[in-house]
Amino acid sequence: MQEHDGTTSPAISRREYDLAFISPEVRLLMENQDSYLKYFLTSNILPKTAENIEQCMAQPFGGLESAGFVVLVNDHKYVIKFTPEIERSELEGKKLKMWEDYHVNVPHVLGFGEIKPPELAPVGYIIMDPITLEEKFAPRVMDILKIDGEVATQLGVVSGIQLAKMHSAPITENVFAIETANSIMESKYAIAICEKLGIPYEELNNKIKEATSGSIVSLIHGDFSPRGNILVSGVEPYSISVIDPHSPIGDPYSDLVYLSWFIASEQFVARKLHIDNHEVIQALRDFTVAAYRGYELETGRKIDVKRFTANAIAMVIKKCNNHFVAGLNEKQYPPYLAGIQDEILDIYIEKLNEMVPQLLGDRAREEYSLIDLFNLE
Ligand SMILES: Nc1ncnc2c1ncn2[C@@H]1O[C@H](COP(=O)(O)OP(=O)(O)OP(=O)(O)O)[C@@H](O)[C@H]1O
Ligand SMILES: [Mg+2]
Repeated sequence: MQEHDGTTSPAISRREYDLAFISPEVRLLMENQDSYLKYFLTSNILPKTAENIEQCMAQPFGGLESAGFVVLVNDHKYVIKFTPEIERSELEGKKLKMWEDYHVNVPHVLGFGEIKPPELAPVGYIIMDPITLEEKFAPRVMDILKIDGEVATQLGVVSGIQLAKMHSAPITENVFAIETANSIMESKYAIAICEKLGIPYEELNNKIKEATSGSIVSLIHGDFSPRGNILVSGVEPYSISVIDPHSPIGDPYSDLVYLSWFIASEQFVARKLHIDNHEVIQALRDFTVAAYRGYELETGRKIDVKRFTANAIAMVIKKCNNHFVAGLNEKQYPPYLAGIQDEILDIYIEKLNEMVPQLLGDRAREEYSLIDLFNLE
């Protein structure tokens, strides 16, 4: 940790910052990740098995919701990911397989299931092929944007096209929960949050229904973010591959909203950590605008601003619920991040106070830019 002159807070690294938010279950998994891996490798689950465990070369990679490894067994490389949410491995595996069948660029899944090592909590696992670029592990879009903002537009267009393909894939496995702006609005917590914030619930609910009428649910990604889950798998021409989908099916617009929200979350972290990331933010904005363009190209339709806003409001209400109900403020954060959940919540409330009147009043439709919905500057 760096020492400062007292006028600014001490900066922590991005990894330290991210790790402050992980759940106790994931923390426990990470602490025991080598034991899980050892148990897994000796359980004959992999298609190719080493004669003895010393023949396997394992390299951990740092996720935030799982413990992942690249394992080399008899010249074959596997990516293995453990997660404490057992059903998540199955949902992730099934979703990736459906997308692969529909020719979306995703890793090929070799298997998923559950392991129960003695004296450790059971975890889910998924095995897949690695995504590579020029024989190395594929970098994430964010890694590229940090060094070369010029390619943001190209990467954005191909990402938007892939996202549209992901949304048009048929749902051939009936295992996913459905979550839409409407189902969020019908929940008890949405009613309670609107009441608490003085938002006219009935009116808002009706507007959201109207704005999303005719929406068809589809396989959504749920964490379509250039930071972790969109990997660059080709250059000249650029191509991307998508990993790590989260569980529900829902309104495809939720993935579009998430891209804009992600820019604000990066702005927020930079502010907290005193990082000047203006160039990266500009690259992210270029990426996201281009992703929307690619999406429109592939679907042949303009993005509907009202439906986008309706989904954005529902997403923020859901995020507010995490703060109100899940008691995140009681979690022990490092001193430097004390009170951070209140800060985040204040921003969500501020954004709701901007977005709700826009949807209710049909104001400023024309000049309203989608990527500025969450802007913190
Ligand atoms: N099949 C793969 N091929 C290449 N790299 C991969 C693959 N799967 C995961 N990775 C790398 O590992 C990182 C973490 O993986 P993943 O996103 O699946 O885990 P996670 O715990 O859900 O992480 P996060 O919460 O940060 O999204 C990815 O950002 C990527 O860099
Ligand atoms: Mg991820």
